[in-house]
Amino acid sequence: MTRLAEMTAAELQQCHARIRADYDAFQAKGFKLDMTRGKPSAEQLDLSNDLLRLPGNLDWHQADGGDTRNYFGSIQGLPEARALFAGIMGAPPEQILIGNNSSLALMHDCVVFALLKGVPDGAGPWSKESPAFLCPVPGYDRHFAICETYGIEMIPVPLTGHGPDMDEVERLAANPAVKGMWCVPKYSNPTAEIYAPEVVERLAAMKTGAPDFRLFWDNAYASHHLTDARPGLVNILDACAAAGQPNRALVFASTSKMTFAGGGLAMCASSPENIRWLCERLSKRTIGPDKLNQLRHVRFLKDQAGIDRLMAAHRRLLVPKFAAVDAALSRRLEGTGVAVWTKPQGGYFISVDVMDGCAKRIVALAAEAGLALVPAGATFPYGRDPNDRNLRIAPSFPSLGDVATAADGIAICILLAATEALLDRGR
Ligand SMILES: Cc1ncc(COP(=O)(O)O)c(C=O)c1O
Repeated sequence: MTRLAEMTAAELQQCHARIRADYDAFQAKGFKLDMTRGKPSAEQLDLSNDLLRLPGNLDWHQADGGDTRNYFGSIQGLPEARALFAGIMGAPPEQILIGNNSSLALMHDCVVFALLKGVPDGAGPWSKESPAFLCPVPGYDRHFAICETYGIEMIPVPLTGHGPDMDEVERLAANPAVKGMWCVPKYSNPTAEIYAPEVVERLAAMKTGAPDFRLFWDNAYASHHLTDARPGLVNILDACAAAGQPNRALVFASTSKMTFAGGGLAMCASSPENIRWLCERLSKRTIGPDKLNQLRHVRFLKDQAGIDRLMAAHRRLLVPKFAAVDAALSRRLEGTGVAVWTKPQGGYFISVDVMDGCAKRIVALAAEAGLALVPAGATFPYGRDPNDRNLRIAPSFPSLGDVATAADGIAICILLAATEALLDRGR
């Protein structure tokens, strides 16, 4: 198709009428689909159904003989579970804590503990200091919701395709009020970018105004590849230690998109001092995590090779869905100049940038046609996308047929909103 912005008014009118007819036809299908969240599909969850038969044979003993049914052992979790995830976390088992099913809960708790009690290297509770966080954008809405809920000011920093704009990060982090930064360093939500080695090194080594500055390093998609490529990521804990900032990073991950999103394990890795801090705080909140589920996961996943096999099976289910979205967007939008979208090598999302000022309208058009998309603006702090431009597509949950239909519908909505906006501007 010709670039819409280069069409004459008459061509644009014709194009708009054609797209409106496509939209009406799409709406008339009565298609209904919720694509708001990046959930695994039922087929993906089925890959881990053996977990439901474990620990099995009434054998609930962990490796050192401890009874996982009882109050017992370290708040840090089963040693064999910590060893299992050492590769993903990039830390030795002693520096890993295994929690319950949600890494978001661990991130939330770390933020709240810091606000109420402070962190190592600090001078007391963050809440006494009007704290602010740097937020690479577009980013993960639930990170932003934690800050918003607890009154932490959010400062957006643009992503570049290889991580955040580091000149900007270094400039902003010099402010002592800036206490933290959200980072999804690999297959980022939603842009799927991977932080380049020099970005990670600069984050580890930069001068911060706050001595107790923390990187919330949410490596949620560490193993979630969609291709054969295995892009590296500099180990942030090693980089921070080498830069003389051993307590700077708190690394998070979970099995939510490996085993069961509602019944997996979450982990945190950090310096020995930070892990002691976290255990101390968590021990006021709970006597211990769900050790039975940790034992199940150890017996089910077994080792890194077991994790890799499971992730390869996820990849086989996910790749056709990502390809279907790309194909539908390409078919309708290539050459139009009204949208660009990512071709992720991993993770759970496709990020689409549409014509400025059109994202809200597209989400509304999609809703009227039965398609629930994540609200426009959700990928920005306070729900405010300054350009009203970014959309996040989550292809994992629907069936392949539905995802293809939905992507076609989204492409129609993108075109319709663009022709409306261009016609409007011509007036
Ligand atoms: C970047 C990121 N972090 C964390 C989560 C949630 O993880 P969990 O289920 O471990 O709380 C998600 C879920 O979409 C995510 O995209």
